[in-house]
Amino acid sequence: MNTTTVPTTLSEQQLIAGLPAGFRWGVATSAYQIEGAIDVDGRTPSIWDTFCRVPGAIDNGDTGDIACEHYTRMPADVALIKDLGLDTYRFSVSWTRIQPHGTGPVNPAGLAFYDRLVDELLAQGIDPWVTLYHWDLPQELEDAGGWPVRDTAYRFADYSMLVFDALSDRVDTWTTLNEPWCSAMLGYAYGAHAPGRQEFPAAVSAVHHLLLGHGLATERMREAAPRKLDIGITLNAATAYPASDAEPDLEAARRADGMGARLYLDPLVHGRYPADVIDDLAAQGIEIPVQEGDLASISTPIDVLGINYYFSQKFTGFDENGRTTDDDGLPISRTLPLNKPRTAMDWEIVPEGFTELLVRLSREYPGVPLVITENGAAFDDEADASGFVADDDRTAYLSAHLAAVAAARQQGADVRGYFAWSLMDNFEWSYGYAKRFGLVHVDYDTQVRTPKQSALWYRDTIRKVRGH
Ligand code: FCB
Repeated sequence: MNTTTVPTTLSEQQLIAGLPAGFRWGVATSAYQIEGAIDVDGRTPSIWDTFCRVPGAIDNGDTGDIACEHYTRMPADVALIKDLGLDTYRFSVSWTRIQPHGTGPVNPAGLAFYDRLVDELLAQGIDPWVTLYHWDLPQELEDAGGWPVRDTAYRFADYSMLVFDALSDRVDTWTTLNEPWCSAMLGYAYGAHAPGRQEFPAAVSAVHHLLLGHGLATERMREAAPRKLDIGITLNAATAYPASDAEPDLEAARRADGMGARLYLDPLVHGRYPADVIDDLAAQGIEIPVQEGDLASISTPIDVLGINYYFSQKFTGFDENGRTTDDDGLPISRTLPLNKPRTAMDWEIVPEGFTELLVRLSREYPGVPLVITENGAAFDDEADASGFVADDDRTAYLSAHLAAVAAARQQGADVRGYFAWSLMDNFEWSYGYAKRFGLVHVDYDTQVRTPKQSALWYRDTIRKVRGH
């Protein structure tokens, strides 16, 4: 683990000077979080439609039924992106719009929405960046076993090709999965996300089948590519700080980094699962269900690695009583506060962990260009009578994290772009609409969109970087 100390912040001036004029700038969203229109044009339920109906699963009983009504308001939303002066829009495709049963032929009515979206973006001079899977598995595939089942990987590759065949004439950048850690662990181990299962061994199988789905889809897209395209994946990652130099703390940080980052990065880039993580899992009687040829597929070279960063954490291997193992003899892993300010998600604000992460990724996984596919923060916004939010806190968060990216580049990290999460306030999964991450405020009663101060700051900063 790399624990080098790095400069935490650069001044605004240094930030602007530290990013190249040709840097890629964007915002990101995902289908279920913004689209609404869950039962039109042939769409069927995904695991999130089902999960939202489980009592107590989502704060306030919120659902994505209506969300930001992006499905019908899409052209105006693209105009917002244009007004912010961005060159890229990262969005995800809803699998059950394209393939309502999770298998079978394309549903033309569902595909038509993304066809229009891509055309609208191109007409406005904005590059479309497609994410094929942002957590909304067709319910029918979950009923057949979901990601813990190997067949789901093949279903994902088939679905990916339906989208690819239709849009690769106009879309240059393709991301297979968004944050497979969340799909596998929050969905199948912790039960906090759809489908809400709490079966750790199944979650480990889900990790492998998600990665296999990525690999199979990547191989097929590459073979079918009509020209040079950029194909990759987005991972969430962070810096895992040990609470001290004591062995149990170092081990706790190693395990956190292993399960959170290396379990994905090593097979993707190096074609093998990390030996220490395999050992840790074996100690719990769990094996990763690898079959012959899987790792070759999974490590098909990627053109870009998307990184989503929100916060870092400190880990200890001691419990409150100083013990290092639990009643089952398994090692203790707990987080401790870093004593930093927090966002409304209760996530600590750790921009220096971002710099360390990016520098380390470029060292340990060299030759893979990085783009920040998500970074942002929820705060308790208060809109004035006109709908405007003077969000100094979010602006400061974005500024500090962009400075962290610039610092990482100075130390050799090959970061080529940055997308803020998110274009607008939206359905924040199990938190419903209570947590607002948008650069643009959404009044959910009227669906009126109002750019926040952070949006204006972002637009102006990009202008300065491009102009230097
Ligand atoms: C990421 C997700 C994104 C959003 C942000 C806050 O993990 O990819 O959809 O919820 O967190």
